[in-house]
Amino acid sequence: MKRAVVVGSGAREHALAWRLAQSVEVVVTPGNAGIAAHGIACVDVPASELDADLFVIGPEAPLVEGLADRLRAQGKVVVGPGADGARLEGSKAFMKEFLTAAGVPTAAYGAFTEAGPALAFLATMTPPYVVKTDGLAAGKGVLVTDDLDAAIADVREKLSGAAFGAAGTTVVIEEGLSGEECSLLYLCDGTAATALAPAQDFKRVGDGDAGANTGGMGAYAPMDAARGPIESAVRETIVVPTLAELARRGIDFRGVLYAGVMLTASGPKLLEYNVRFGDPETEAIMAVVDGDLFEPLRAIGSGKGAPLIASAGYAVTVVLASPGYPEHPRTGGVIEGLGADGQLAAPLADVVVFHAGTARDDAGQFVTAGGRVLAVTATGPSIDAARALAYVACARITFEGMVMRTDIAATVSGS
Ligand code: AMP
Ligand code: GLY
Repeated sequence: MKRAVVVGSGAREHALAWRLAQSVEVVVTPGNAGIAAHGIACVDVPASELDADLFVIGPEAPLVEGLADRLRAQGKVVVGPGADGARLEGSKAFMKEFLTAAGVPTAAYGAFTEAGPALAFLATMTPPYVVKTDGLAAGKGVLVTDDLDAAIADVREKLSGAAFGAAGTTVVIEEGLSGEECSLLYLCDGTAATALAPAQDFKRVGDGDAGANTGGMGAYAPMDAARGPIESAVRETIVVPTLAELARRGIDFRGVLYAGVMLTASGPKLLEYNVRFGDPETEAIMAVVDGDLFEPLRAIGSGKGAPLIASAGYAVTVVLASPGYPEHPRTGGVIEGLGADGQLAAPLADVVVFHAGTARDDAGQFVTAGGRVLAVTATGPSIDAARALAYVACARITFEGMVMRTDIAATVSGS
């Protein structure tokens, strides 16, 4: 039987491993307690010491550090760009320069290392003000505000290095865009790109998009509003010029190019690139993948085409997070409602509980072990059906101080 290794330890990796395990043997490194409980092998061994027909790297940090390059140097087939391509996510200043060179529509911006020029540029902008940390910040380095004083304070704090260390010592200040956001994930084989089911994630911690930006509190797929003409426009104005610019720079991008797109009144504009599967979008997308996932991923890792992956039905993912998330999550709480396999103790058809941050205590009970704890995912024939089922499932799980949005996918147009 063919074998795949998934690198990472969150709910995204759980979802990828769960889907791949429907056709091949899967090992996750290092994985987590919930993935192991679900019957998927987890080993705490570096990927370079494992053998497999396919390696899928989940998180951005190892990509930015060159893990895909090291594995390819060993002759392995890898889904994930090398360090050169990963800079699209690793540095927002690089990404914006790349987009400008490629002619991709995106927010106007300036990148600064000194407060004086940064604040002078900020003074020329109109609200909402957008201030970003240059480097990786786990989705938490972005401030969007109408309050100029708050934006000024944020620029000073980021440049001081207090909030994000070295990652924050360059700031990017952007024009504020408005519209619906969507996450379009493309499988790239270095030359061609095919879209997975479009998804939407919910980044703010509170209902109605209130509160701080997080890694993502929920998602749904497919996002029908991003299909058809919008998908064509994104391909034409964003993806095709990006592939051309990658080729021009000699970057052989084999992996997932995740376009975070704002659907503005003047057309789709790129907010950001990620160079990996989105989290929690992937939990929803994997639940609607129709057919085998292994061979298409192996094709893109081998640079041999980007086969279309079809989707069937709809999925909604609701994240259950620890109290205090995202600023100061408190972990260690006992999770009620899960069985020994980490799934619902009282099972529901068409529901999967992906584990983001869990561990087992001495008594074998699941306990919270991260900011995001579980990504409860349900499928159905419509967004409404999938959402209703996801919340029925969430009601069967409790832990002290559990943080959950109640409005994931609640106002999806056309649902
Ligand atoms: P990023 O990590 O760059 O995707 O930013 C996180 C979130 O901040 C995005 O998903 C948007 O909701 C918001 N955001 C980022 N850039 C802008 C912008 N230029 N205008 C409005 N909102 C933005
Ligand atoms: N859901 C946003 C991300 O994966 O970055």
